[in-house]
Amino acid sequence: MNIVMIGAGYVGLTTGACLARLGHLVTCIEADPRRLLPLRAGEIPIYEPGLSDLVHACRQTGNLQFADPDTPALPEADVVMIAVGTPSDDDGDIDLRQVHAAARHIAPRLRSGAVVAIKSTVVAGTARGVAEIIAEVRGKNDIPVVSNPEFLREGSALADFLRADRVVVGADDERAAKVMEDLYAPLTTQGVPYVRTGTVDAELIKYAANACLALRIGFVNELADLCEAAGGDIRAVSHGMGMDNRIGPRFLQAGPGFGGSCFPKDTRAYAATGRRLGVRQTVVESLIAANETRKEALAQRIVDALSGRRRARVAVLGLAFKAGTDDVRDSAALTIIPALQAAGIQVVAHDPKARDQAAPHLPGTELADCPYAAAEGADAIVILTEWEDYRRLDLTRLARRMKGTQVFDYRNLLCPDRAARAGLTCIGIGRPAPGKDAQQATGAAPAQPRTHHGTRWVEVAASPS
Ligand code: UDX
Repeated sequence: MNIVMIGAGYVGLTTGACLARLGHLVTCIEADPRRLLPLRAGEIPIYEPGLSDLVHACRQTGNLQFADPDTPALPEADVVMIAVGTPSDDDGDIDLRQVHAAARHIAPRLRSGAVVAIKSTVVAGTARGVAEIIAEVRGKNDIPVVSNPEFLREGSALADFLRADRVVVGADDERAAKVMEDLYAPLTTQGVPYVRTGTVDAELIKYAANACLALRIGFVNELADLCEAAGGDIRAVSHGMGMDNRIGPRFLQAGPGFGGSCFPKDTRAYAATGRRLGVRQTVVESLIAANETRKEALAQRIVDALSGRRRARVAVLGLAFKAGTDDVRDSAALTIIPALQAAGIQVVAHDPKARDQAAPHLPGTELADCPYAAAEGADAIVILTEWEDYRRLDLTRLARRMKGTQVFDYRNLLCPDRAARAGLTCIGIGRPAPGKDAQQATGAAPAQPRTHHGTRWVEVAASPS
């Protein structure tokens, strides 16, 4: 099929390349020449594992092209996907101006019967609004608009597309539903489930899924605080909890609070939709507040621990909002580093991928080339991103470079015993403070987290997946 993708940003580029890989002829339209020209020259502006190779392979087969908005591909398209930005407005709701502008641009250029699919994350009712705009511009109602949300995680986006848990298509029109079914046939024939709903339901599925996942993280982060206060260990508690099939083990890693381009923005938009429609989503509203407070509270922990030290210096390891990406949007580092600096602490930071993306957001922060250089003369180290490189740090080498001994391991990456052997004090998340165990906190005998498999008792793995 002939597909035109409006917008070659993260979602448009990844989805476009994956659809080309499925055998469709895809033209990605990019209005910004500063983005379009490098793409045409083979430069991929984002870091996503496998994407660069996939784009190059699809361009060689001729299945993927990049064009400006006047491309002759538009009147030829069977499906036009809108994958433009939907930034937050001041109230947390999303700004649909780019979606509406895209609709107005394509409306007069489409052949009758083409299908428009909205990929951008948009609030309930947007597809119907876009259909009205297109019908008004054309003077007739011959272009169905469907909702086709994406569920791609940065860092594993290609696998998330090609081996999706499900494809969701919201269509209020039967012929459009059939076109979308054909589009995704290469996936559904391989066993990927296909969920067909109305447009409003599909729009809500996207927000509900992200809000639900974010709630799990918010819950496990508060649970980690409870573990610390009670002398428990979050890794053992979430392991035991996640073994209930109704709960499941994924998305239960305690950390410095969720970030990224989706969870913070989508939970805000979800709550704003509730307020706008007069049905406040109080659970999600308190999640949003708790997630922000958490980052500030974790910064305060470091400030308190270093109080009294003159010209304290902290090495922050990890600027990306999670491992596997160079994206720093709403990352814990962007809240925690300025809070440390506001308390007079000098910060030097390292990240294996996100250095260039982070630099403009972190004035006054020194950026080091490697974790050991960052540790030079540091009173403490703070780990904010779960990069594998950090899990495998040579702690003795690190300790030798440092002035102090504390490591705030906000991703529970390090083994506290290994850190202790190197002379470091590892302060994790949701674990007993060093030198304090469950027995001391509760007066009870400390329980060893173990799982019984058949006749064997197995120690519960302490490292996060
Ligand atoms: C998310 C959704 O997973 C994806 O389906 C949607 O399309 C876009 O938003 P992404 O933002 O790439 O994807 O990252 P994800 O892996 O979901 O992590 C989001 C945040 O939650 C990160 O800050 C991560 O560190 C944090 N997280 C995740 C935890 O703190 N604990 C966990 O157990 C899982």
